[in-house]
Amino acid sequence: MIENLSQEVIKDGRIMVIKHSSSIAFTPAFPFFLRQVAELIENGHGSAFTSWDDDTTGIIWGEIDDKIVAIFAYHTDQIKYKILNVSLTSVDKEHRGLGIHTILNSYFEMIAKRLGCTGTAATVHPNNTIRLKSAEKDGLKIAYHKLYKRL
Ligand SMILES: CC(C)(COP(=O)(O)OP(=O)(O)OC[C@H]1O[C@@H](n2cnc3c(N)ncnc32)[C@H](O)[C@@H]1OP(=O)(O)O)[C@@H](O)C(=O)NCCC(=O)NCCS
Repeated sequence: MIENLSQEVIKDGRIMVIKHSSSIAFTPAFPFFLRQVAELIENGHGSAFTSWDDDTTGIIWGEIDDKIVAIFAYHTDQIKYKILNVSLTSVDKEHRGLGIHTILNSYFEMIAKRLGCTGTAATVHPNNTIRLKSAEKDGLKIAYHKLYKRL
């Protein structure tokens, strides 16, 4: 079920409508999510496998003039530890730098609290410097370094 969360004015004065679904399946934001997953694989900032499960992945998205301009997907795999994980945040290229991610993150944190979570977490490729900056601005701090060796 799609929930209308709110609307916010972005930095250039336009109004963005914010919507949410607790399952990503059958949402209008699903193709946007898939396109961004593909782009991250192609630019080396993502892994080439299906990392999500539709049932445990929720999504928040922003619309301007009825067009989706940004998504914020999360997953509930660690909800028993009261942690809500970011799956993927993405703003379309023409709308970056307008504070849209920051707005969607505030609704993500609202949903995390609504689900009884006391923390949020994200996995970011070390070369994704812009997302690392935005994560820092969101207040996320490095908790672990995940190490990997290709065999
Ligand atoms: C990361 C992303 C979602 C940020 O969205 P955005 O709406 O442009 O971000 P905001 O305008 O809310 O900016 C938030 C903060 O991010 C940082 N930031 C955003 N764009 C930046 C840039 N080009 N260079 C450096 N820092 C940047 C800044 O700290 C900024 O805060 P400030 O405006 O007070 O300086 C967007 O760049 C994106 O979609 N990237 C491609 C997808 C991606 O890599 N997703 C993450 C996968 S793990």
